[in-house]
Amino acid sequence: MKTRGKTLMERYEMEKLLGKGTFGKVHYARDLESSQGVAIKIMDKDRVLKVRLSEQVKREITTMRLVEHKNIVCLHEVMATWNKIYIIMEYAKGGELWDKVKRSGRLTEADAHRYFQQLISALDHCHSRGVYHRDLKPENLLLDENGDLKVSDFGLSAFSESRRTDGLLHTVCGTSMYIAPEVIRKTGYDGAKSDIWSCGVVLFILAAGYLPFQGPNLMEIYRKIHDSDFKCPNWFSHKLKRLLYKILNPNPSMRPSIQEIKESTWFRKGPREISAVNKKVLSENATTTNAARVLPSRRKEIAHEDMKSLVATNLNAFEIIALSAGLDLSGLFIKECRKETRFTSDKPVLAIIAKLEDAAKALNLRIRKTDNNTVSIQGRKEGRNGVLQFDTQIFEITPSCHLVQMKQTSGDLLEYEKLLEEGIRPRLKDVVWAWHGDDLQQKQE
Ligand code: ADE
Repeated sequence: MKTRGKTLMERYEMEKLLGKGTFGKVHYARDLESSQGVAIKIMDKDRVLKVRLSEQVKREITTMRLVEHKNIVCLHEVMATWNKIYIIMEYAKGGELWDKVKRSGRLTEADAHRYFQQLISALDHCHSRGVYHRDLKPENLLLDENGDLKVSDFGLSAFSESRRTDGLLHTVCGTSMYIAPEVIRKTGYDGAKSDIWSCGVVLFILAAGYLPFQGPNLMEIYRKIHDSDFKCPNWFSHKLKRLLYKILNPNPSMRPSIQEIKESTWFRKGPREISAVNKKVLSENATTTNAARVLPSRRKEIAHEDMKSLVATNLNAFEIIALSAGLDLSGLFIKECRKETRFTSDKPVLAIIAKLEDAAKALNLRIRKTDNNTVSIQGRKEGRNGVLQFDTQIFEITPSCHLVQMKQTSGDLLEYEKLLEEGIRPRLKDVVWAWHGDDLQQKQE
C-alpha cells in the first residue's frame, strides 16, 4: 500500500522512503504541528508476530528509550494501529556514513578518528546501561545536519538480562562481515567485547574504504575472522595500525575494553593531521562520558527489616513503554491523568529504599512497605485535602538499572508537588540517574 502523502494519526505526514531496515521500511515524515522532520520505521504487527520477532521489536523500543546520547538516534514516540507499529525517531539529515565513505573511496584518518571517537562515546554510554548494539556496521551509522555521527537501528541489541546464567549472550546475530569470532564460534560471548570488535571493523572500513575480512565464500570469510587474518593498508599511521591489531584480537579477553581504547594514543591524539575542530570534539566527548560515569560514593545499604523483602518487579518491555511518558502506546490505553513521577537509577534496590527512608525521616513522614512491592510514604498531619500520601514502586529493567515510579494516592496535588520538588527530589539525587515523566505532571496544572 502507498504510504507517501498519507497522514499518520493526524500527526505526521509521510513523505519519501529513506530505506529498508531489518524489520521494515523507514520513511521521512513531517510533524504537522512543529513542521519538524522525523524518521518513521513502520513494522507490520502480523509479520513481527508470525516470525516471532516481537521480542526483538520490544527490545528495540525499550533499548532506544534507555539510551539517550547525542550520538544515538533519539526515539520520539511509538504509535500502534491494529496491524502496524510505528517508531517515530529523530531524522538524521546527513544520511548514511557509509554513503560518504563510498563517495570518497575512503575517509581521511582525521575523519575516521572523529567518527570513531563519537562511536566509542555512544557505545560507552550504551554499555554502561547494560545495552549492547550487536549489529554495528556502517549502514547503521548515520550523520546529522552537522555531520556528527548518529548510531541507529537497535533491532538486534540485547539487554544483559537475556544472558544465560554464564553471563554470556547466546543469540547468533549481527551481519557476517562485522561479527566477532566468538559469535561465529557460538560459544556464548560478552556483548561489550563483540561490539568492540565490530567497532574495529568499522574503523578499518572508514579509513581503508574496504572490508578487512574478504573472501570468495562465507567459509573463507569466517576463517579469516576466526584467525583475525587481515592486513592494514600502508597509508594507515603506525598508531592506528597498533590500535586496530589490538581491537581485532580473536580472543575477546585480550581485546581492549572501551576504557583502554580511550586511553590509547591514537584515540587520544589521533593522526598527525588532526585538526583543532577534532580536538574540540574529543574534549566534548570526554566531558559527556565522564559526566555519565560519575557515581556518587557508595553508601552502606541499611534498610528497615520489612523493606528487605522488597524485590524489584521485573518489567517487560511493553510495560516499560506503557510507563514511558510521551509514548502514544500508553496514551491509547490510559485515560486518566496520572500524578506520577519516575526516575531511573543504576543503584541497587536497597540503596534506593535507604534513600527513601532517609528522606522520609528528614521530612517527618511515615514510611512503610505495603503489597505489590510498594513503599508507601504518608504525611503525619491533615493537609488542605486530607493526609498526603504517595506510593513508590521499583521495577527492574536490567540488573543494573531500575525504574522507580512515584504516584500520589491521596492529599492535595500542590502540596504533593511542593514536597516532591523541595523535599524528596533533592534528597534522592544520589540514587537518581535521570528523572522522567515531568510532562505528565505539567498537563495537570
Ligand atoms: N534511515 C534509517 N533511519 C534513519 C533516520 N533515523 N534518519 C535518516 N535516515 C534513516
